[in-house]
Amino acid sequence: MNLFDVYSQYDIEPISGKGSYVYDAEGTEYLDFYGGHAVISVGHTHPVYVSKLKDQLDKIGFYSNAVLNSLQQELADKLESVSGVSDYALFYCSTGAEANENALKLASFHTGRTKIVALENGFHGRTSAAVRATHNYAIQAPINQGYDISYVKMNDVGAMESELAGGEVCAVIIEAIQGIGGCYTCDTEYLEKVSELCQTNGTVLIMDEVQAGYARSGKFFSFQNANIRPHIITMAKGMGNGFPIAGVLIDEQTFTAKKGMLGTTFGGNHLACAAGIAVLEIIEQENLIQHAQDLGQYFKAELESKLGNEVEVLGNGLMIGVKFNFSSAAIRKEMLYQEKIFTGSSGNANIMRILPPLNIKKEQVDYFISKLSKVFESVQIDV
Ligand SMILES: Cc1ncc(COP(=O)(O)O)c(C=O)c1O
Repeated sequence: MNLFDVYSQYDIEPISGKGSYVYDAEGTEYLDFYGGHAVISVGHTHPVYVSKLKDQLDKIGFYSNAVLNSLQQELADKLESVSGVSDYALFYCSTGAEANENALKLASFHTGRTKIVALENGFHGRTSAAVRATHNYAIQAPINQGYDISYVKMNDVGAMESELAGGEVCAVIIEAIQGIGGCYTCDTEYLEKVSELCQTNGTVLIMDEVQAGYARSGKFFSFQNANIRPHIITMAKGMGNGFPIAGVLIDEQTFTAKKGMLGTTFGGNHLACAAGIAVLEIIEQENLIQHAQDLGQYFKAELESKLGNEVEVLGNGLMIGVKFNFSSAAIRKEMLYQEKIFTGSSGNANIMRILPPLNIKKEQVDYFISKLSKVFESVQIDV
């Protein structure tokens, strides 16, 4: 049977991983500054993570939401204490798109409205409502174009103000740091103003933390630099370090749950919760929020000092975009095949994304920058 051929792939197959490295069958070591697309939060095969999942598998891997599962509450309590956000209720699901799908649905249940405002170059997933909010018509099928949407420029308060005036918009959905968009970041004043406009106009504010959340930005959630309280927060990638788990945090003052309102078979299953609890334990024990902030600052400063005249450095924490004034493809290819370092692409061909595991070390950052500088020189010469 053929695989449905939708992914552009490198001809490399990692078969094992440890910390910030992955290995192919010949034992070639690759430094992972892509984190499997921002998913690997606490490193490959972290011993705490592996033992927690193995222990859970020996007990019970799955039962449906028709029965009690106290791991769900344990993870919710841990999330509250590590993230610093409270008075939200947690709904579990399995992917980022599913989290956003449920967030948009909740907003529409609550307001009775259907129009959504999202940012240009934003990405919110590929399922029906989520892909409509994603600013990429190429991945919206006709069946996805079922509600009215406006895409506005990031950090343009006036554009948001005129969209929300009149009180007809159901929800605004925003990434505080755009992932696929290339690590462009919302100003804190902008987020605060958008939040205020949402309050005034009865619009639900959804912060999509699927990629930037879970300590990646140097805050637990990337919007936490701003003084806002979103109505809904969605999260996924780093939450399970590769085990599919996602969540929707729902403001308890605003929303009331009704039986059957949302649901999913796999959400909050035993193995997923075990993975989620292990990730939070590691984030806490290894102080990874602070580490991402400190090392991210160092990383950005070093990139600026070594390549700053040639590139623009974007992002926060360990979610960094490097914008060249030419396509980053040749650089990324050379980094991978010559230097054995994985990096990420973005929706903007010139921007390379850097999304390493959060417990990456300073020496690995130094190593990465020395290799990037070397590759940058050689690609320039070739050009
Ligand atoms: C910000 C953001 N939201 C949503 C998604 C969709 O997540 P998933 O691929 O798990 O459905 C992504 C995936 O890249 C993302 O970066």
